[in-house]
Order: sequence, then structure tokens, then C-alpha cells
Amino acid sequence: MQNSTKKYDIVLFGATGFTGQLIAEYLDKNADKEHIRWCIAGRNEDKLKSLSHKLHAKPDIILADVTDTSSLDAMTGQSLCLMNAAGPYDWYGGKVVESCVHNHCHYLDITGEPSFVYHCFTDFHDLAEKNQLCIVNCCGFDSIPADYATWLTVQKLPKDLPKAVRLFIRTNATFSGGTLTTAINALHQQSRGNMPYLKIPRHKDAPKVSKSLHFNKDIDAWAIPMPVVDPHIVKRSAWRMPDYYGQAISYGQFFVRSSFLKVLKTILPIAIASLLVRFGWFRNYLLRKFRPGQGPSEKRRNESKFEVICIGEADGQKVKTVFSGGDPGYNETAKMFSESAFV
Ligand SMILES: NC(=O)c1ccc[n+]([C@@H]2O[C@H](COP(=O)([O-])OP(=O)(O)OC[C@H]3O[C@@H](n4cnc5c(N)ncnc54)[C@H](OP(=O)(O)O)[C@@H]3O)[C@@H](O)[C@H]2O)c1
Repeated sequence: MQNSTKKYDIVLFGATGFTGQLIAEYLDKNADKEHIRWCIAGRNEDKLKSLSHKLHAKPDIILADVTDTSSLDAMTGQSLCLMNAAGPYDWYGGKVVESCVHNHCHYLDITGEPSFVYHCFTDFHDLAEKNQLCIVNCCGFDSIPADYATWLTVQKLPKDLPKAVRLFIRTNATFSGGTLTTAINALHQQSRGNMPYLKIPRHKDAPKVSKSLHFNKDIDAWAIPMPVVDPHIVKRSAWRMPDYYGQAISYGQFFVRSSFLKVLKTILPIAIASLLVRFGWFRNYLLRKFRPGQGPSEKRRNESKFEVICIGEADGQKVKTVFSGGDPGYNETAKMFSESAFV
């Protein structure tokens, strides 16, 4: 990765956020083994100094604020690759990607916002391609497990046959204030019909995969359709790489619940929030309740786990890929994001 014209291989922007600090800790333990020159960046000097002080590598700090384009350019101009952990990305991300593509800096993030992925593609893809740069969204629990599990699953099926892939996620994890703020913003945008996403053409032979709530016999549990970014990413991977996935593939993703009561406990709060989120007083109430910078404690994260079950079918043949890990949204995301940047 190293390039002598840039001072750093990686700048971690948003390092002082809840997830950003966990990513910084992962870099602290692992970047040196990969001979990576890295530093941390953000808008708050005191927080950055205190974080750097806590870390073994005592990384340099860069002050940069998304409201100050010149500070972003000074940051991206010094690095080969930027890891962006400052979200909601719909609010803070656009200027950061723009600065990266203008300053020859690869860009990675952990967004789960379909509309942000859409804007990255429509606004910056051409210039990034011209400057031979990568913009890689969704390098966290959104969407690496889904994308990777699907890729592994389709390799076990005949390439030329139409395939149906269903992916099931089980987890007991909880969320950070930043993630919930992002989700509230996404629900609000959706309620205003303002949620563009990359539409992937459906092949005429692709099998139909039901996207509704159902009891699934393969996993012996209830399956709730997940309106997340993963299906867009998985379908796009398949569409762009037909040599690996075949032409006709359909995909559905579901959250697993063991009883109907748990289904209700999961979907009712989301349904109510989706209705009320169009009102400013309700959004303000939620934003006060789920504060940025906060998140599950280390003990709670150590108790969290996830399992991904991916089932692929082609012409009566059924194959399965299963993998599991610890706390998906934070501990595992810090690992997935950092390892993506190391590549
Ligand atoms: N895909 C996944 O699996 C996954 C997992 C975890 C998180 N995420 C996403 O990652 C994002 C961050 O989550 P989080 O829980 O870490 O949120 P957070 O704790 O609120 O952190 C937000 C970060 O953004 C920074 N920031 C805010 N405004 C800024 C500005 N004007 N200029 C520069 N930096 C600014 C904050 O800086 P200060 O510290 O100075 O306030 C902080 O570092 C969210 O969008 C979340 O959805 C995704």
C-alpha cells in the first residue's frame, strides 16, 4: 500500500465517535504488523489528543471538520486511503468523498444508508474511475457478511442455472446512538419518499423470492424481511460479476425471530416509529434519547453475537453457508472495516 508521496497510508476520520474509537483500537493493535502508517482525524482537538494518548502507537492527529472544505482537503491530501467513521453519512459524508476523489485518496466507509451509496455512485464514480481511485461503501456489518456469504454460497451452485439466495441473520446485539440517529434519519427520508437507491435490473429468468414475513422451515423460525442496504450491495455484486454469480440470481434477506411474539416485539416499534418520524417533535425526542457518541458497554458488546445463514437454491439443489461472530455492529465492524482498508 505504501506510497512515498503521501505521509500516511490510512487516515481514520471520525475517530472520536463511538465506533471510531473501536476502529482506532483495532488499528492500534494491527496496523503495525501490516507496516501501515496511520493517524486519527476529527473535529475536536481535545478528544483526538486524549484518544491518541490512550493508544499504544500514539498516532498523529489531524483536525478536520466536514463544514470546512479546506480542512478536509488538507487531510485527504496527506493520505493514500481514508476510513470514514463520521456518520450519519447522508449528513456528513458527501464533502468527505468529494475531497477524497479530488485529492487522490481512496475512500472507505461503514455506511448502511442506501441513499448515500446512491449519491456516491452518481456523483463521484466517474471522477474516481478517472483518477484510479476506489470508493468502497458498506465495509462493516452492513454489508460484508451478506455479500461474502452470498458469494461463498453461489460458488457451490452451477454457474449457469438461475439461483435463489435467502440470507437469514440472528443477533442479540444493541445499537449505538450514532447508528440509531442514522436509522431515524433514514426512516424520515423514507417517509418523505426521499430515499433513492441503485436499482439493479432483474434478469427475466431469476426465480421469485418472497420478501414477506413468513415461517421458514429451513431455519425453523420466523423470518422478517430486512429493509437494509445489504440487498442492494449483494445484487450489485452479482450484477457486476456474472462470471462468478451467473446471470439470473434473486436475493432476499431476513431477520430471524424464534417466536411470533418476538416478531411483534421487533416490528411494532419500527412500524410506530415509521409513522411518527415525520413529526419533528418525535424526531427530536428520539435524537435526545439516542445520543451520538454513546453505545453498548464493553460487557454488553462481549455478550453480543451474530449468525448468518445463507441458503442458495438452483434447480432443486440446495446449499448452505453459515458463519458467526461476536458483536456485529461495533467489535466485528471495527475489524471488518480495518481489514478492508489494509487490502
Ligand atoms: N455498517 C455498520 O455495520 C455500522 C456499524 C457501526 C456504525 N455504523 C455507522 O457509523 C456511523 C457512526 O456511528 P457512531 O455510533 O460511531 O456515531 P457517533 O458516536 O455519533 O460518531 C459520529 C462521529 O462523527 C463525527 N462528526 C460529527 N459531525 C462532524 C463534523 N461536522 N465534522 C467532523 N466530524 C464530525 C463525530 O465527531 P465528535 O466526536 O467530535 O462529535 C464522531 O466522531 C453511523 O452512521 C452509523 O450508522 C455503521
